Amino acid sequence: MIVVMGSTGATGNALLHSLLTLGTPVRALTRTPHKPIPGITGPHRPPVEVQYADATDHHSLRTAFKGAGQLFLAMANSPAQVALETRVIDIAAHTGIGHIVKISAPAAEPDSPVAISRGHHAVEEHLRASGLTHTILRPHAFMQNLLRLAPAVARGIILGTTGDAPFNYIDCRDIGDVAAAALTSPGIAGGTYTLTGHEAVSYPELASRLAILTGNPIRYVRLTRDELRDNLIHNAHMPTWLADHVTEIQQLAIARPETPNTTVADILGRPPRTLDAFLHEQHTHFLR
Ligand SMILES: NC(=O)c1ccc[n+]([C@@H]2O[C@H](COP(=O)([O-])OP(=O)(O)OC[C@H]3O[C@@H](n4cnc5c(N)ncnc54)[C@H](OP(=O)(O)O)[C@@H]3O)[C@@H](O)[C@H]2O)c1
Repeated sequence: MIVVMGSTGATGNALLHSLLTLGTPVRALTRTPHKPIPGITGPHRPPVEVQYADATDHHSLRTAFKGAGQLFLAMANSPAQVALETRVIDIAAHTGIGHIVKISAPAAEPDSPVAISRGHHAVEEHLRASGLTHTILRPHAFMQNLLRLAPAVARGIILGTTGDAPFNYIDCRDIGDVAAAALTSPGIAGGTYTLTGHEAVSYPELASRLAILTGNPIRYVRLTRDELRDNLIHNAHMPTWLADHVTEIQQLAIARPETPNTTVADILGRPPRTLDAFLHEQHTHFLR
């Protein structure tokens, strides 16, 4: 049995779809089991075991992991993330889980300029010391994040600090497919993989593609790091730790070019989904 933690989230939900397509038995964990899991549970859906679990509640984790051999671990970013993920790993190790697939992030290093990535490094180290077989997935930014830009795009602007520095975006559905492969193909389990989409695109290039797609003028507005952070805190009402995260990620993209690699294609035997296909599929979100 495969247990999916974060089954309502972007990567966990994509993984559920991938596993259901493969016909693999799966237990989906959520803190709100009474609510449908998007696209997965509800009338006319294939059967999935849905169970309550909260990483702050040890008893719920022990119950949720009972009888399972593998765990997918994706956890929302928060100041508590490292403590929650390390506790999940400890309880998994004591309840018979043999293999964990963990969602990490690029630049998961002890001296990373991105605080969340330093946290991922700490969790990766904890996982390595746990004695469990583990697969670590370090995806670049999710294409699905771009939907958060939709209100600004609909007003004709994209705000950012990165100028011509390109961002690499990967479709969460490819992350789900790679995670499913790691959970079902022994040859892939056990590695550490940086996952990219097929191209890296700057914000001005993104603005120009969205302008063509929507038929509306869209311009890129370059801000300083402090201007972006203030905007995220005061206009987007982000908590300061999240505004810091967004600005740190953008600084990282300037410092380290986000070059695409072939890992997704190597594992899946097909190229990753393209940004243009994603934008085309989702273009109504960006309309005025
Ligand atoms: N976004 C990106 O571009 C990006 C890029 C690289 C890496 N990452 C990494 O991806 C990870 C997030 O994965 P995601 O985007 O798939 O998740 P997500 O969409 O942010 O969803 C978060 C999930 O965490 C679960 N969760 C939150 N608190 C929990 C708790 N106390 N106990 C149990 N479950 C809890 C939520 O479940 P409930 O339904 O119960 O709330 C939800 O399913 C982060 O670690 C992030 O650093 C993100």
